[in-house]
Amino acid sequence: MEDIAKLQIGENSYEFPLVKGTENEVAIDVKTLRGATNGVITIDPGYKNTGACLSAITFLDGEKGILRYRGYSIEELAEKADFLEVAYLLIFGELPTKEQLEQFHADIKDKAIVDDDVRKIIDAFPKSAHPMGILSSLTSALTAFNPSSVNVDSEEDMYRAIVKIMGKFPVLVAWAMRKIQGMPLNYGSNSLGYVENVMTMMFAKPNEDYVINPIVKNALDKLLILHADHEQNCSTSTVRIVGSSHAGLFASLSAGISALWGPLHGGANQAVLEMLEAIKQDGGDTKKYMAKAKDKNDPFRLMGFGHRVYKNFDPRAKIIKEVADQVLNDLGVEDPILEIAKGLEQEALSDPYFVDRKLYPNVDFYSGIIYRAMGIPVEMFTVMFALGRLPGWIAQWREMRLGKEPIGRPRQIYTGENHREFKNISQR
Ligand code: ACO
Repeated sequence: MEDIAKLQIGENSYEFPLVKGTENEVAIDVKTLRGATNGVITIDPGYKNTGACLSAITFLDGEKGILRYRGYSIEELAEKADFLEVAYLLIFGELPTKEQLEQFHADIKDKAIVDDDVRKIIDAFPKSAHPMGILSSLTSALTAFNPSSVNVDSEEDMYRAIVKIMGKFPVLVAWAMRKIQGMPLNYGSNSLGYVENVMTMMFAKPNEDYVINPIVKNALDKLLILHADHEQNCSTSTVRIVGSSHAGLFASLSAGISALWGPLHGGANQAVLEMLEAIKQDGGDTKKYMAKAKDKNDPFRLMGFGHRVYKNFDPRAKIIKEVADQVLNDLGVEDPILEIAKGLEQEALSDPYFVDRKLYPNVDFYSGIIYRAMGIPVEMFTVMFALGRLPGWIAQWREMRLGKEPIGRPRQIYTGENHREFKNISQR
């Protein structure tokens, strides 16, 4: 392939260089397009064909169902690594040595206390508040409690901000859940591992000892790893674009949490469970709901199916399905919802509507079932996704700032009125 792209506009022709990634992905570098063509731009709603950046963090091939963090396959990481190792890998680029991991964890624990005044903010939320709203507000509030700005040219400053948010975020996650459950806000214990501590902060009751179930811990570790990064999705792009204005890390993350909340993104795991519950209440007739999903006059969509980039299978869904079976078997949970989920999956995988459109179960199809078996309320599912995605957001923010990327500022093609004279109110 030639390493230039040629563009013809009317009489004029232009040449643009091609950019090649390490996995041979190719892009046309149009940085000079507007200047060279006297104002012509590209338009690509939803950015389906637009690369916003060069990134060395996550590689995914939607056609082949490949997902790798820093070159390591998601299958291998989910089997052999734990969440904190994966977080380190994503953020700093290499798997940590034992000493590096211990130091990282120690530094995180050192910063894990959240200012006690944050409790006053939580007190002001109604118990009915959605925990994603609480989480994004509290993450934003951290900027007020930690006002010193990060000097991105100082490795030390950068590292301090990273361990701060890695330490405080799980506390906010747990507090968001305890708020809606009317439970006293607590801290875990510095003697526990990162994920064990998250579980303790979420589930420990004030009147009994909390014993960690290793099956649940293992499942949660895997779920967090599977959600840890997914290159330039909606929330990650949000984090990068907000950060590109040099807004701080916590403010950028808070914006990312809001983006994640939507049902077409992270909110899908809650929507899946609500859909399965509704099907159960309606007699469990999966065929009826399959027909609704295919009916173009019906807005109903099969939640947990389809993906913007995976058009073959979602490799995370394969791993998660096994985890779901394991957790439900080991915990002895018989959930009729799992049967409905399996029925829908079977039907969709052999239905021409879904096959032709390459609609397969995505990561969120099974994650809600696991969270439910763990005793996590449905409104918390997207919060759990945010907890998993935190290292990915941090890694992407860090890469963007260290790469000195310019402020994100797309252009537009204006389609409104041409210039008109102002009329005074009496003349309108
Ligand atoms: N149920 C029924 N039909 C669907 C579904 C679905 N879940 N998803 C896509 N389709 C159909 C569309 O109606 C469209 O049909 P058409 O070509 O006849 O018009 C075709 O498949 C393509 O769909 P688009 O919406 O154009 O695909 P896009 O890539 O823009 O959207 C998305 C992907 C948003 C994930 C979509 O599949 C969807 O809404 N799925 C349900 C929500 C969901 O599970 N989201 C979680 C995504 S994973 C994550 O964020 C972690």
